[in-house]
Amino acid sequence: MIMNNNRPIRSYVKRQGRLTKAQKNAIELHGRNYLIDFQDELISFDNLFEKNLPIVFEIGFGMGGATFQITKDNPEKNFIVTDVHQPGIGNLIKLCAVDSLENIKIIQHDGLEVLRTMFTDYGLLGINIFFPDPWHKKRHNKRRLINKDSLELFSKKIMVGGMLHIATDWEPYAIEIIDLIRQDSDYEIINNDFNQRPNFRPETKYESRGMRLGHKVWDILAKRR
Ligand SMILES: C[S@@+](CC[C@H](N)C(=O)[O-])C[C@H]1O[C@@H](n2cnc3c(N)ncnc32)[C@H](O)[C@@H]1O
Repeated sequence: MIMNNNRPIRSYVKRQGRLTKAQKNAIELHGRNYLIDFQDELISFDNLFEKNLPIVFEIGFGMGGATFQITKDNPEKNFIVTDVHQPGIGNLIKLCAVDSLENIKIIQHDGLEVLRTMFTDYGLLGINIFFPDPWHKKRHNKRRLINKDSLELFSKKIMVGGMLHIATDWEPYAIEIIDLIRQDSDYEIINNDFNQRPNFRPETKYESRGMRLGHKVWDILAKRR
């Protein structure tokens, strides 16, 4: 992790978003079925889910609409997903509770820390990162979630044959990510047309906003060698 005066440089800003009544209710009524606490140690996922299935991890689900859809579409996988903002957490719990989904758990914490401390190496089927904050300004580039170090961390946690899936609507960031992945012998990029959204990834809220602004979208699918 990049440090500044011994403090980690975070890829997010803590905002005090206001919860709607429905989000608050969802957390109160169903939080115990979906939330797991951050722990500063390895955890066993054996009895965490209704069924023991391969696990896909996500960093930064935002309001959670696409994450909910992916979870619902893939009952043969379990999902552990992270974000730091409470309204999105309430919203995702609300969506999952309506369909009584049993294959998703949510951790409200920095996803990089979760990955580093709670997961054994080479245990994940995949990692999804959809529309990481672009941190456009040069002086903010160091806050970007995806860099050489985090790609190394991801490759340590994904099993051979598993998949890292990244999407972004910020061209310079996309190019940087593609270059970094190509330089890393642990990955093989498997899609040819980066501007073609795979049909298994629903459009996300942040993506819709970017497209309204005329941004192109990049999907990068990198297989763990
Ligand atoms: C630009 S938004 C995109 C949200 C969503 N994936 C979408 O496409 O609509 C990025 C999200 O990543 C979250 N985020 C950034 N860094 C994170 C980290 N280290 N751990 C967990 N979440 C993070 C932010 O809180 C924010 O909700």
